[in-house]
Amino acid sequence: MSFPLPLQTHLRDVTPLVYGCMALGGDWNGGPVTETDIAHAHAAVEAALDIGVTLFDHADIYRRGKAEAVFGELLKRDPGLRARMRLQSKCGIRFADDANVGRFDFSADHIERSVDGILQRLGITHLDILLLHRPDALMEPAEVARAFGRLKAAGKVGHLGVSNMHAAQMRWLQTALDEPLVANQLELSLAKLDFIDAGTTFNDPQAATRPGAAAWAGTLEYAQQHGVQLQAWGSLAQGRFNEPAASGAAKVVHEIAETHRTTANAVLLAWLLRHPAGIQPVIGSGSAERIRACGDATRIQLSREEWYRLYVTARGQALP
Ligand SMILES: NC(=O)c1ccc[n+]([C@@H]2O[C@H](COP(=O)([O-])OP(=O)(O)OC[C@H]3O[C@@H](n4cnc5c(N)ncnc54)[C@H](OP(=O)(O)O)[C@@H]3O)[C@@H](O)[C@H]2O)c1
Repeated sequence: MSFPLPLQTHLRDVTPLVYGCMALGGDWNGGPVTETDIAHAHAAVEAALDIGVTLFDHADIYRRGKAEAVFGELLKRDPGLRARMRLQSKCGIRFADDANVGRFDFSADHIERSVDGILQRLGITHLDILLLHRPDALMEPAEVARAFGRLKAAGKVGHLGVSNMHAAQMRWLQTALDEPLVANQLELSLAKLDFIDAGTTFNDPQAATRPGAAAWAGTLEYAQQHGVQLQAWGSLAQGRFNEPAASGAAKVVHEIAETHRTTANAVLLAWLLRHPAGIQPVIGSGSAERIRACGDATRIQLSREEWYRLYVTARGQALP
């Protein structure tokens, strides 16, 4: 993979699966990184590399900085590691503290300071992709563009993307940017179907029962048209389809897994990969064994019938 990516190159062509590092770094209470955290992170990262993952997803807030700090420790201990991967991180969410409520912050000052923190914790000089984590109600595209321009000119960040934004927000931000947004990371899974329902239930009176879907209108289409890589967080549905007998959908997931001689998690990922939008699932398991098993997802190809059976069973309501 060569960076910077040429315009309109989909990250998915380079690495179909992303490893999400939110599970690394121990607890969420601050404090130092321990040898146990390092051993756990090492096993997870090796498992992800073994299944062909070359993009690792972070955020400055994960484990209050400890996910990046433990990853930085791995990079320090194995200097060859950095060349085997691309690193992505996010900023823009600020936790509540004694003086402030929890909030979003896309001010230039906050973005630039956050990137310095990310680089310092990871122990790197260049971050391949920076994502804006959640839409800031006070976002001013020109201010974001100025911050990104300075970060890019300083060699600190290669590309800019977003997370949890709908089409109109991406379009609005893009008006101020000289370069295309490269990614949008959204919650997409068999447990979070609004992104599909937005298209399939358009013009259906029943759609009124699923109001969440309306907000998604045009988001997949915008991303595909403009070459914005869609990344799926929550792609394993946080383990909700783990128990075969737990619900109708879990039963179907396990049946299809059996047909393909694979795991339920691989089926969940294959379901996302089968969608023509070119979705890049982000795997959030901290278990090396479960991560390795996810590698099957790129091997199996779900039929159109299997894809719809999973979709309709998971939504719990027949299509119009
Ligand atoms: N952009 C955003 O706003 C946003 C939000 C959340 C997350 N993310 C990113 O997306 C990544 C993935 O998100 P996620 O962690 O919410 O979702 P996920 O990958 O769907 O879920 C991971 C969780 O599910 C559990 N799990 C998975 N398969 C299981 C199974 N078969 N049995 C039992 N438990 C199972 C894992 O436990 P084990 O660790 O024990 O396997 C882990 O706790 C994160 O690491 C982060 O990089 C982004």
